[in-house]
Order: sequence, then C-alpha cells, then structure tokens
Amino acid sequence: MRIAHISDLHVTATAEPAGLTRPDAVARARALIADIAAFRPSIDLVVITGDTVNDARAEEYAVLADVLAGFRAPFLLTPGNHDDRAGLRAIAPDRPYADPSLLHHAWRGDHARVLALDTLSPGEIGGRLGAGQLAWLADELARPFDGHTLVAMHHPPCRPGLGRIDGAILIEGGEALRGLLDALPRPATVLCGHMHRPFTAFFGRSLVSAATSTAFQFALSLDDPDAPPPDAEPYHYVIHLLDADGGHVMHRRHPVL
Ligand SMILES: [Fe+2]
Repeated sequence: MRIAHISDLHVTATAEPAGLTRPDAVARARALIADIAAFRPSIDLVVITGDTVNDARAEEYAVLADVLAGFRAPFLLTPGNHDDRAGLRAIAPDRPYADPSLLHHAWRGDHARVLALDTLSPGEIGGRLGAGQLAWLADELARPFDGHTLVAMHHPPCRPGLGRIDGAILIEGGEALRGLLDALPRPATVLCGHMHRPFTAFFGRSLVSAATSTAFQFALSLDDPDAPPPDAEPYHYVIHLLDADGGHVMHRRHPVL
C-alpha cells in the first residue's frame, strides 16, 4: 500500500501576511493535494501530522475543508499546536476517536496500521502525551496485528538538533512512548511534523520521519541558537511503500507548487 505523509499546511482564511506563513500557503496546499490526487498508482491513505491551519480559526477550517475536498484517498489528521480540536473534529467527524475530548484514534489497513496521537497542549508550542493516551496506545499495540505499525503525531519525539526550536518537541510522554514501541516485535515508524524541516532519525528501535511544511520552511542550521529564518529550499513530501512481506521504502516526491 502507499501512504503519503504531509504536514503543517498552515491554511489561512485570507492572503494577508500571517507571521512566517507565506501569503500563498492555501494555493500551495491546493497544489500539493492535487499532486497527491493525481499520483499513480493511487495513494491509499494521506497522513497529515498537524498544524493544518495557521490560527485555529473557524474560517480557516472552512478553507481547509475545501482544500481537502480534493483528496480522493482517505485522510488521517492529527492536531498540531496551531490547531483547534473542535475545528479538526468537524473536518473528520466520523473517525473512531477514543476520547470525547482528544483526537487519538486508530486506522487499520490490510498490512499496516496507523495510530494517530493527539500531542496538542493548548497554550504551549511543545507537545504532551498524557497517561490516558499512553494507556490507550499500549492497548492498541497489544492487539494482534501482523503488519507495519506507524504512529502519527505532530511533535517529534526526539531532538533533531535545530537550535532553539529543538525545545518545542514532545516534552511529556516521550520516554514511555519509546518503551512501548521498542517492545514491539517489529520496528515502528513515527510520522511527525512541526519543525518545518524534513529529517529522519532513530528513536529507540523506531524510525522517525518528519515532514516539512508547504507554508514555510526553516533554513538548515545545526549551530544557531535561534531558529534560522525561512529559506527557499524546494518542497518535498514522502510516499511510504509498505509491502505485505514487511518491506518499507520511503520515496521523496517534489511537486510543482
Ligand atoms: Fe507548523
């Protein structure tokens, strides 16, 4: 099966400047969705790891709903620090949410399962995984499943080494998460966003694959104590090829935005 992973669309309701977010963020999000929809063989699932809108406003979620209407594949959403849970839930009301106030839920395909986590901590840039959600995850992981395990969450669970923004990763629950994933018979994959830069990393036995953003991307700096300014590196997203026999290949695609 084929899973496309994107993140941090930061959809706005107007073309006015909104912080670092580009004024053409909506147009770029639409172009990205069109590229995924046109890809062949078709994409089976699109995972969007948070910051779907820029300012958690109802008008922005109305634009997001219109943007996502271009999807032909099912999509899975996790909340980011720029999101509002009620707004996201209204976009995807039929998901099997495990808690009335949070958005974590499970998606299962023939040989892959995606466990979507809710790391949003209102008022904070960093993310948190509380005991209740970790207990839910432990129960889900304990269910018999012969296939790939992917965890989708906005905040990276490990430091990418990107200066000041390193402090804004998952700040609660990461150690417990690593313990749960390391106990699985097969290594898991963690899909995340938030840093507005692509990277891959090991997190215990798991592989972390972080998506960049269509709205703005930080320059790469490994020694600047402040977040480096946005730059003009070309955007890409990753298509995960997941085989029934355990094969997992990640391909980069550079759409014209
Ligand atoms: Fe973001």
